[in-house]
Amino acid sequence: MISSESMDLYTDPKLFSGMDVYVVAGNPIAHSKSPQIHAQFALQSNQAMHYGSLQPALGAFTKAAQDFFAAGGKGMNVTVPFKLDAQAFAKVLTARAQLAGAVNTLWIQDEQIYGDNTDGAGLVRDLLAQGIALKGARILLLGAGGAARGVLGPLLEQSPKHLVIANRSNAKANELVKIFSELTQGANLESVTLDDLEDAGKTTPFDVVINATAAGLNNVSPISAKAAANIFVPSSFAYEMLYGKTTSFMQQAFQRGARVSDGLGMLVEQAADAFLIWRGVGLTSAIDPRVVLAKLRT
Ligand code: ATR
Repeated sequence: MISSESMDLYTDPKLFSGMDVYVVAGNPIAHSKSPQIHAQFALQSNQAMHYGSLQPALGAFTKAAQDFFAAGGKGMNVTVPFKLDAQAFAKVLTARAQLAGAVNTLWIQDEQIYGDNTDGAGLVRDLLAQGIALKGARILLLGAGGAARGVLGPLLEQSPKHLVIANRSNAKANELVKIFSELTQGANLESVTLDDLEDAGKTTPFDVVINATAAGLNNVSPISAKAAANIFVPSSFAYEMLYGKTTSFMQQAFQRGARVSDGLGMLVEQAADAFLIWRGVGLTSAIDPRVVLAKLRT
């Protein structure tokens, strides 16, 4: 029996007999573009499936996920604030989900719940699709929370020359350097504080600057104007993981002449990976994330 608090009518798999049902779970969830994105992938690859959205109450993710899969749900995307709960919920984790410390994609196979994290791969694919060279690049990653940790592994796999993690508080950035120290692929991985970026003697400009902090949600930039002057040059590329608005971070980069992107492409690319996990990698060439992205931008 599905409880009404955790199951949205339009995501109850029992209402869609003969059709595989997927959802995105988050709180809040109304703003999510995932249903639109997956509907486009399903259309492109001719898949009969339903993808809805679910808003478990805070603290009620596990019950909602249990109910969804027990009712026949096939897969779930997970967004803020439930990615850690999703990791705990999955019985089997991929290596990259373990490393990311969070799960954004769940599915059921042989009655077991599997968890993966496609965020980092999504970011890397969006950067590459925008023509950004990562091999040998100097990359600055702002933030050391879940969003930063989720993308570190895939970024290092691209063999940058230098990857600097900058955070307000040093301890979290140091912790990430420790976790990823064995996986640097030859990159020079180090941590600094956001204040350090203001010191022109210590900071030189970066090729790629990725904002993985939550600062944009509060309409502030994680970096000061002084730091922006040190890290951005016109050849820099600034990537904001948020989407849907031009953040102060994006404006700072733009004012220094840098190229700027929001995180909508990352959202579409991480969704593509989830879609292929669920529906089969055989569909890789049947879907076109860049076409879906272009549609979302119109
Ligand atoms: P998420 O899963 O979105 O990464 P999180 O784990 O709470 O969320 O981490 C939020 C990140 O944004 C942290 O790196 C945080 O810095 P602290 O570790 O110092 O708290 C960073 N952050 C949030 N608001 C910020 C702000 N106004 N300026 C700079 N950094 C900020």
